[in-house]
Amino acid sequence: MSMLIKNGRIVTASEDFTGDLLIEGEKITAMGTKLDANAAEVIDASDCLVLPGGIDPHVHLDMPFMGTFSSDNYETGTLAALHGGTTTVIDFVLQTQGKSLHHALEQWRGRSDGNCFSDYSFHMAVTDFNDQTKAEIREMVEKEGITSFKTFMAYKGALMIDDRQMVGLMHEVKRCGGIVTVHATHGDMIDYLIAKHRAEGKLSPLYHYLSQPEITEAEASGRFADMAYQTGATGYIVHMTCEGAINHVREAARRNQRVLAETCIQYLLLDASLYEKDFDGAKWVMSPPLREKKDQEALWAAINQGTVLVVATDHCPFKWEQKKLGEKDFSKIPNGHPAIEYRMELLFSEGVVKNKISLSKYVEVTSTNAAKIFGMYPNKGTLAPGTDADVVILDPAKKHTLSARTHHMNVDYSAYEGWEVTGKCRTTILRGKVAVDNGSVKIAKGYGKYLKRHKAGLPV
Ligand code: URP
Ligand code: ZN
Ligand code: ZN
Repeated sequence: MSMLIKNGRIVTASEDFTGDLLIEGEKITAMGTKLDANAAEVIDASDCLVLPGGIDPHVHLDMPFMGTFSSDNYETGTLAALHGGTTTVIDFVLQTQGKSLHHALEQWRGRSDGNCFSDYSFHMAVTDFNDQTKAEIREMVEKEGITSFKTFMAYKGALMIDDRQMVGLMHEVKRCGGIVTVHATHGDMIDYLIAKHRAEGKLSPLYHYLSQPEITEAEASGRFADMAYQTGATGYIVHMTCEGAINHVREAARRNQRVLAETCIQYLLLDASLYEKDFDGAKWVMSPPLREKKDQEALWAAINQGTVLVVATDHCPFKWEQKKLGEKDFSKIPNGHPAIEYRMELLFSEGVVKNKISLSKYVEVTSTNAAKIFGMYPNKGTLAPGTDADVVILDPAKKHTLSARTHHMNVDYSAYEGWEVTGKCRTTILRGKVAVDNGSVKIAKGYGKYLKRHKAGLPV
């Protein structure tokens, strides 16, 4: 099968021109102006942008968490991703404390394999680092293609590891050529504040926010960077929200370290005033919580300075019934919010259209940098002859309104209900096949392929 995408504005992290893209089978075979090619299928992309498929390296699908499961499974979540221009997701396998990494991987493969629409891969969350787990790291990297290892400095008793384990893991992951990623917040300080607020009868979603002040994230980010400095490991801090944490990444860069940072779309666009809406605030209960306007400004600046390299989602949806588990106690509200479908369009509308970031920066932070950092580049993350034909055709002028009535995520509210967005992902192509076109789905469940990744942490 061949496909010619004609007359689009082709944009990668390094190129920007109006031209054509030829796809044969799963790969791009030519890219240029006025390509002289006969193709079975011709797509006119006039007045549209032709971009690398989005990569969301932070999603939680069908994940057991806080007594329930995130409400998008691999089928609904990866299809919603494609509707929104994301062609590859990286999800998290969570080790059960006391059990092996392989045991967890088997469970996650059982839920995901054969069920994905988009391409997918896994980070391995090491929640119990010991001699057995240590022995599994090299196998994960070399046999399973899992080159990134997630750690939690919070959620004590379920996911958190202590600093001694962190240092041991960093040494081993470095030896094996991988990257250590982290949920960097001070678990003990947060647990103390949660207990204090509960004891005082302060039980609304606002107290979720007040239990995780900026210092809890800044301190842990600095501590993580120090441990990475001591061990020489490459580190990656997920879902960064605030100025204090960004400053620790800057300090690490001054020491010539490789501590990379990701933020998520919600931290750029939403702020903590949403927690003042009584229980409705539960829609935005996530960890870390939304922050202040000054933090949003700091994040946009950090993106433009190359300090924050990736904009992900931390997509972890829960239906309203599930959120209501915490109706009487904020600490029982399942943490997370739905965004997998919205990231590309929201960042385009709020970032590019409003002149906060350039189009090439947009491509970098939605696709190219994640591909490089997590060992998928150049197959993913760019458009060039020889790479996977993962392409988004985005109509930059088309306006639409986000709503739970029209989205494809398996969740009965939208955290962005009524938002007016400029720019619509018209067609999403995954490995040479039109996956979604003007809202209609053209591929079947199971088309999405598991991606083994190579050694992670390439310079971006
Ligand atoms: O609130 C969040 N972020 N839920 C998902 C788990 C995590 O910490 O990333
Ligand atoms: Zn987290
Ligand atoms: Zn997460």
